[in-house]
Amino acid sequence: MVAAGLPDRVASRADLPSHVTIWEVGPRDGLQNEKSVVDLDVKLEFVDRLADAGLRTIEATSFVHPKWVPQLADAAELLAGMSTRDGVRYPVLVPNERGLDRALEAGVSHIAIFASATETFARKNLNRTLDSQFEMFDPVVGRARAEGLEVRGYLSMCFGDPWEGRVPAAQVVAAGRRLLDMGCSQLSLGDTIGVATPGQVEALIAGFGSPDQLAVHFHDTYGQALANTLAALQCGVSTVDSSAGGLGGCPYAESATGNLATEDLVWMLDGLGLSHGVDLNKLADTSAWMATRLGRPSPSRVVQALRG
Ligand code: HMG
Ligand code: MG
Repeated sequence: MVAAGLPDRVASRADLPSHVTIWEVGPRDGLQNEKSVVDLDVKLEFVDRLADAGLRTIEATSFVHPKWVPQLADAAELLAGMSTRDGVRYPVLVPNERGLDRALEAGVSHIAIFASATETFARKNLNRTLDSQFEMFDPVVGRARAEGLEVRGYLSMCFGDPWEGRVPAAQVVAAGRRLLDMGCSQLSLGDTIGVATPGQVEALIAGFGSPDQLAVHFHDTYGQALANTLAALQCGVSTVDSSAGGLGGCPYAESATGNLATEDLVWMLDGLGLSHGVDLNKLADTSAWMATRLGRPSPSRVVQALRG
């Protein structure tokens, strides 16, 4: 049940997109960071409940090296067991050709490669230099597109990096352009450690010249994810990454905490009168259910308000 205090919807504003595509990353970005490995059955139910709640893009898992991210070592089993629904996309993360082989074998139709805007994180997350990560991705994108797959590019550490500090926008734009030029249809700008503020978001999006191929991916470490999202929407971005219940983090960036919670995003979009297709009650039920499986409360303020 939605609690009292639900804000009145306002007519959608001319400076905002009328529809927002929510790119749900809970099963991947959320569960990759859990201390323990979540049971396959729980993952399968999680993905199915997210689809039932109306999410139409659900990033399901990663075909990375299982030693690097043991939490998602069951990627093939997950895809084999998933009851997929028409109209729902289930992208997966793929770092290299070995990962692509595994993803193709599992029958995926949408992949995401993930690059770093900084040298240090490229080494820590991918065991590559900034330049050599692109050499790793190039054949992945080429082969994936030849197979008819959609390819998204992620770019991490777009605002700050725990080892290198503030990351200049020009450096991020240069790295992001390489992913787009390689053939990624969308570029998701990641604030991996959640340090950005809205003015920086506006400046970075402006640096790309057009918001058309951009998505945003905010972690909420400093409580700025929702403010940053609104700034991105005002710049014309209409795809926003978030994770149910605010699960998330990155195992190779210790200061990264949870993603923007999908419920918090939905609450704001509802208030602004922007369509998104998600049933907030079903989603909050799902996150409350997941919180009991994980043994701790959801960090999402909206889940706490509705189900706390
Ligand atoms: P590496 O050790 O350099 O790998 O790792 P390699 O290429 O040297 O290969 C070594 C061995 O691993 C070989 O086996 C390969 O076959 C095998 P051997 O010949 O020795 O028997 N191998 C694989 N096996 C299974 N699946 C694979 C695979 N690749 C190689 N895909 C690698 C390089 C990229 C694989 C490694 O660094 C890796 O897996 N990194 C993934 C880290 C990760 O998943 N991080 C979290 C996701 S990113 C994120 O969360 C940020 C994001 O949310 C946005 C944001 O918030 O900013 C997206
Ligand atoms: Mg992330």
